[in-house]
Amino acid sequence: MLREYIHALPKVELHVHLVGSASVDTVVALAARHPSAGVPTDRAELAAFYEFRDFDHFLKVYWAVQSMLRDRGDIDVLVTGLAAELAAQNVRYAEVTVTPYNHVLDGMPGDELLAGLESGRATARDVHGVELAWVFDIPGEKGIVAGRETLTFALGERPDGLVALGLGGPEIGVGRARFEPFFTAAREAGLHSVPHAGETSGPATVWSALHDLGAERIGHGTSSAADPALLAYLAEHRIPLEVCPTSNVRTRQVASVDAHPVRRMLDHGVVVTLNTDDPPMFGATLEGEYLAVATSLGLRKSEVAALAANGVRSSFLPASRKDELL
Ligand code: ADE
Ligand code: ZN
Repeated sequence: MLREYIHALPKVELHVHLVGSASVDTVVALAARHPSAGVPTDRAELAAFYEFRDFDHFLKVYWAVQSMLRDRGDIDVLVTGLAAELAAQNVRYAEVTVTPYNHVLDGMPGDELLAGLESGRATARDVHGVELAWVFDIPGEKGIVAGRETLTFALGERPDGLVALGLGGPEIGVGRARFEPFFTAAREAGLHSVPHAGETSGPATVWSALHDLGAERIGHGTSSAADPALLAYLAEHRIPLEVCPTSNVRTRQVASVDAHPVRRMLDHGVVVTLNTDDPPMFGATLEGEYLAVATSLGLRKSEVAALAANGVRSSFLPASRKDELL
């Protein structure tokens, strides 16, 4: 069975947001403690709350959940919960996106955030056998100040496991190029560059992420499929796309997994990796993403294994650890 085959593959997850990984149980418990956040405490109501009209509506819901996180204990619960979920799917390693600037704006001191990340990461490793790394991302809609503060926090604290700088949030009206100084400084300091681009805007945003931010992987990159020259560039330079099919469906960027341009990306030789983005919010699991894409594209087992291997090779793990997972 394909399902068992997918489960048995050693997998990595390269695009998952910590806040968006909060389990339904965790969100319901937080909502009971923080009624003013407006997040339902009833599971059926929460499912309805997670029906997104569009990407901007999704972000508002995401921010409401984020606003309920206040201290290291809340962060630890999220990190350990994510690790348990990953372990159950035979996901051995994940690069998890955290948005420090947003947490600080919501009243969580930076040292609380770091303490929760650190304790959760230790539990992930020691109890669940899952290795976690961090991507600190700039919430682009909050402008240059968010870029400066995120970079200062990242390079000043430099927590264990921090591997990359990211850029998230809306793309329309939030040009990638304005964040160039922060990505340049981050790269000079040894961090990788993994901005979102082409999730909610066109291929020009992906070009800008490549040229202005030195992107080494692209978060989503969905609209790259509309630009054959861009697909050729991504293939030639082996810049992986962090494709999140169910996310794109649930935020209404594509009509269905069958309508997702992942086939076109693969046909052009682009390195495609499969990821979940914000799994419980989208009703997604990493195994489910593999199964949906394999079914939709009619992939053979060897092709499914190649997708998992793309994830491993595209990760920022050292070569020796990659070899263990291949
Ligand atoms: N923050 C959380 N999920 C996101 C996504 N899919 N795109 C941009 N920013 C996000
Ligand atoms: Zn994302």
